[in-house]
Amino acid sequence: MMEDFESKIKQTIEYLPPIPSVMAELIQALNDDIDLNDLGKIISKDPSMSMNVLKVANSAFYGLRNKVATIEHAVRMLGTREITSLCIACSACSILRPSSRQPTIDLIMFWRHSVATGVFSKLLSSELNIGLLNNIYLAGLIHDVGKIVLDRFAHDMYTDVLRLARGQNISVLEAEKRVIGASHDMVGAWLMEKWQLPIIFSQVAMYHHQTYKAPDECLIAVSIVSFANHISKLKSFCFGGEIDGTTLRETDAFKILERINPGVRGLDFLDFIESLNGAREEIVNIERVINV
Ligand SMILES: [Fe+2]
Ligand SMILES: [Fe+2]
Repeated sequence: MMEDFESKIKQTIEYLPPIPSVMAELIQALNDDIDLNDLGKIISKDPSMSMNVLKVANSAFYGLRNKVATIEHAVRMLGTREITSLCIACSACSILRPSSRQPTIDLIMFWRHSVATGVFSKLLSSELNIGLLNNIYLAGLIHDVGKIVLDRFAHDMYTDVLRLARGQNISVLEAEKRVIGASHDMVGAWLMEKWQLPIIFSQVAMYHHQTYKAPDECLIAVSIVSFANHISKLKSFCFGGEIDGTTLRETDAFKILERINPGVRGLDFLDFIESLNGAREEIVNIERVINV
């Protein structure tokens, strides 16, 4: 990479707001099996997060007749894991939101792909009985945030990246390397290091396009997110469409999952993918809240 760009991109990352302390506390809470009361206390410290939690609890998705008015009630209703994931999604999205009028890539499409990858990662882990449920959703949700950083760094260049990828039918990753000289996998990992997130997050960002290079301790998480990324590309914008299970089986992520978890071999793709249709509502629901 051009030296000059590397330091300029790192500077862009430096200027991004730090991770809110509430988000850091929630990530910690995910790993500590925190009880509902303590979780409610953490969320209550942040007014906009509290507002989002109430908005979700009162959304049409849950179809309640009586309004949920307190954080304690919302936390009890939604459960620890759901609420934590949702709050983390809201804060990640708001930290990365550009100042108004600044031109950006299509953030609605960006977050739709991200949320779908997060949700599919979670479902795949649970289908395969892999105990990563708490972190894997968030790892999937933020696997591509390097794209937002690159777009902030140079929106014109990133527009060229997307045009080149489309025009020449190459991957966005390849186009980023050609136009900018840096790609979103590495840049995303830098951001997560700055935020001092647990290592699994930066590793998932770093290796989701090169699964086979991932270090052993993160190999399962990287493969799950990478595989969910494939599914979400095929699936997230066209629920109900046909998916070619053979192509999915040819991905590096699938081959690695097959090696480390023979359970995946027995996975009935058509069935599993069909079951993802049920996740559509969850995705739309999260999307509605984080895009406010
Ligand atoms: Fe990516
Ligand atoms: Fe992706």
